[in-house]
Amino acid sequence: MDIGIDKIGFYVPKDYIDIVELAKRRDVDPNKFTIGIGQDKQAVPLPHQDDVTMAASSADSILTDEDKKDLGMLIVGTESSVDESKSTAAFLMDLLDLPEDIRAYEIKQACYGATAGLQAAYDFVSLNPDKKVLVIATDIARYGIKTPGEVTQGAGSVAMLISQNPRVLKLNHESVYMTKNVGDFWRPTFSKTAFARGKFSNEVYVNFFQTLWTKFQDKYSVTADDFSTMLFHIPYTKMGTKALRTLEGKVSDEKYTELTKHYQNSIKFSRDVGNLYTGSLYLGLLSYLVNGAKANENVLMFSYGSGAVGELFSAKIQPGFEQVIDKQALIDMLNNRQKISIDDYEKIYQIEYKNDTIVDPSTISDKFYLSEIKENERIYKKLK
Ligand code: CAA
Repeated sequence: MDIGIDKIGFYVPKDYIDIVELAKRRDVDPNKFTIGIGQDKQAVPLPHQDDVTMAASSADSILTDEDKKDLGMLIVGTESSVDESKSTAAFLMDLLDLPEDIRAYEIKQACYGATAGLQAAYDFVSLNPDKKVLVIATDIARYGIKTPGEVTQGAGSVAMLISQNPRVLKLNHESVYMTKNVGDFWRPTFSKTAFARGKFSNEVYVNFFQTLWTKFQDKYSVTADDFSTMLFHIPYTKMGTKALRTLEGKVSDEKYTELTKHYQNSIKFSRDVGNLYTGSLYLGLLSYLVNGAKANENVLMFSYGSGAVGELFSAKIQPGFEQVIDKQALIDMLNNRQKISIDDYEKIYQIEYKNDTIVDPSTISDKFYLSEIKENERIYKKLK
């Protein structure tokens, strides 16, 4: 039975900052941020937005009533959860009008959470072929103002509907994975911002990729020639480049040129959005699908979540995928955002809604929003 991604949707907050403006304000050569880090824009979420509202928006962009009837499970991968107990998935039940007879939960393992969800979805559909699973990656990446990680922030959500006979991407059920206790990136429960040993996290990421690629080749007797595209977890686009570069000289020049060209197509959206943590790999997939993917391509996908778990798996782009993806709507969503000043970004960054906050709906233009915090409970609404 073929199982994989039948639909994929994306949501990004409407506000963004320009990375050159950020560089100038931080007294950094802009080339460091645009070339050295590889970013152009960074999405900025507003205070009424969080992992729940963004997840609702990305899922709402793909789900039909028919899909909801067939749903058996909802999994949210996030490391920006608003509650230490209740899952992001539970909040989504009303917002998305989902049926009660589903299993719904959240997975946390840094940026790996959505991949864990995708693999669980694969297993679930294998056992329940008439059911679909909604997997959502949703995150706000925050390192703090004036930190080295500031340039690698971002926000957004990717939603994927997993089913049999998928129309976008078939998962080949070929996968290798590894886990190690590593201190490359962490966010204690008291902190809104992440702590990272930035350069070390790059090293661990590249080491995980190299180890897994060797394992994958041995396990499935394949080489790079069996793949036309490699997609990477891209917290910032230079990071995937570093993993890709480990193949230079080890694969033919033609193959390396092809992989590099396809990688450039896969990072277009990330350059304009920034870090999505759990969603970064899947935003790369979406960017590739919109910017040059071909039917029947064999794709290798590298998922990495600090702390650290890595997984390398293969997939095949399905014939007719173009008909399932609303390319123009995605491009319009990215182009119709508004640039805000660095001053405004810094102000927005400091706002944190506390207990007894009531958000005035007339100030909101997003369909899903945090409406109120009452008795320390977050209450969400959707604009009718
Ligand atoms: N022109 C062009 N390039 C320039 C330049 C210039 N004027 N000046 C510097 N550069 C280049 C440098 O040569 C360097 O390139 P290489 O990496 O290829 O060597 C690059 O710009 C960055 O320069 P530095 O290493 O000096 O930058 P930095 O000290 O400011 O740190 C960083 C960069 C480590 C990425 C930092 O931004 C950081 O800590 N980011 C947060 C950590 C992070 O994103 N880790 C990876 C994610 S872990 C993860 O994925 C999270 C998860 O699971 C939840």
